[in-house]
Amino acid sequence: MSKIIVLMGAPGAGKGTQARLLQERLSLPQISTGDMFRAIVKTETPLAEELRPLLTLGRLVPDELTMRVVRERTAQPDCRAGYILDGFPRTTAQAGMLEGLAAEQGHALLAVLVDVPYDILEKRMTGRRNCPVCGEIYNVYFKPPARDEVCDLHPEVRLVRRADDNAETAKDRVATFERDTRPLLEYYEKSGRLRRVDGARDVEAIYADVQKAVSGE
Ligand code: AP5
Repeated sequence: MSKIIVLMGAPGAGKGTQARLLQERLSLPQISTGDMFRAIVKTETPLAEELRPLLTLGRLVPDELTMRVVRERTAQPDCRAGYILDGFPRTTAQAGMLEGLAAEQGHALLAVLVDVPYDILEKRMTGRRNCPVCGEIYNVYFKPPARDEVCDLHPEVRLVRRADDNAETAKDRVATFERDTRPLLEYYEKSGRLRRVDGARDVEAIYADVQKAVSGE
């Protein structure tokens, strides 16, 4: 049966890194609500004005809007064989909506937690840099680009740092995760749909376990 793979984890845990590998290797689309919201914020629209302060401060976007964005994106033909959700659901309301969506679309749902201790999350967030062209994810401490602040694949492009990747906002984002999102782990665990992966290792070791969890090994 086709699957929705829900990648879960605290901010900076490595969901995006693993989702990009799954996308590349399993040919399923990666749907990152954070990436979609950051794209909206770059536009000159009233919606961008509304979302910009929320993203900058690491506060959650209202459920109704978030669910609409996910519903529209997952209705695209490339999602018919399943997809990877990165950063959704984050609240009980979003999880409830996703159950309905999975049933309508005929997909099973599996949640995979990338579990990382809090003491390493801050460096993962504050050290993160992204290529604005291809989205490649770097880290000045753990995965630096070959040349300082420049993408390996797009040497003409300077890497960017996210507005919410500073130490203070990082703490608030972790607190939001604890309050609003952690309860969902228990929700998926109780229904036997949660797999936990140790996310404090190197990227490929984590991927091997994520891939096993996804294929039911
Ligand atoms: P979002 O973009 O989803 O941010 P997040 O959940 O805070 O997660 P991150 O993107 O920070 O981290 P990640 O786990 O993807 O880690 P990554 O792979 O990049 O959301 C941003 C904002 O959008 C939210 O605050 C909210 O405002 C809004 N939003 C989004 N979804 C929403 C929703 N559903 N409802 C409401 N609002 C929503 O890795 C991090 C760093 O670590 C990188 O530098 C990477 O190179 C490095 N790294 C990764 N893996 C390893 C490893 N194994 N070893 C060493 N370094 C590693």
